[in-house]
Amino acid sequence: MENSNSETKQAVARKAFEYLNSKLHKDCILGIGTGSTTNFFIQELIEHKPEIKAIVSSSLASSKLIEEAGLEVSELNDVGAPDFYIDGADEINDRFEMIKGGGGALTREKIIATASKKFICICDSSKKVKMLGKFPVAVEVIPMARSYVARQMVVKGGSPEYRVGFVSDNGNQIIDVRNLKLSVPYDFENEINNIPGVVANGIFAARKADYLVIDKNGVPEILEQ
Ligand code: 5RP
Repeated sequence: MENSNSETKQAVARKAFEYLNSKLHKDCILGIGTGSTTNFFIQELIEHKPEIKAIVSSSLASSKLIEEAGLEVSELNDVGAPDFYIDGADEINDRFEMIKGGGGALTREKIIATASKKFICICDSSKKVKMLGKFPVAVEVIPMARSYVARQMVVKGGSPEYRVGFVSDNGNQIIDVRNLKLSVPYDFENEINNIPGVVANGIFAARKADYLVIDKNGVPEILEQ
């Protein structure tokens, strides 16, 4: 049965931390994502304070949580490739391709995920889908290109909607695009990226997750690609 509640999110985050904790050491660099599930993972980090070299974060919101607890957040430019990146998803398929960006942090998430050696996705089973695309694909755009990109998305069969009042951590705007036929997410991800004015989009197919921590029959389990 599908589950989408705080207890389940906390359980998968805890399971991911337990799994990771045994692999962490003083030279490890951890990448931290954004969202309610990741926040539970941040709680584990704060509680256990593992001895690691650096933490990088995909959003101002996550950085704030981490720093308020007295842990340091480093710039990706100042550290090497993160050993692990931990983040949630809005949808994930059997190949561990995802739609992300519900929280609008997709660009920094994609940068850190792609720079990282291993990507551990943590989510509850309501996020598991056969085919991606029911959840809208967030497209971060340079503000002056918003209408142009939206029209291009209509040409591709999508129904774009401007996320009114939202400004990304990078100072950009977001269009949420519904009704895209994502049978080959990798191709669509690249197609959207090729539209001038697009900064990044929420399809994570070029950089999929390596591990998925998800609940099954109420118990969190770790799946590997
Ligand atoms: C933010 C994201 C999040 O990972 C995604 O929205 C899942 O969030 P939550 O854990 O709150 O369900 O991509 O940009």
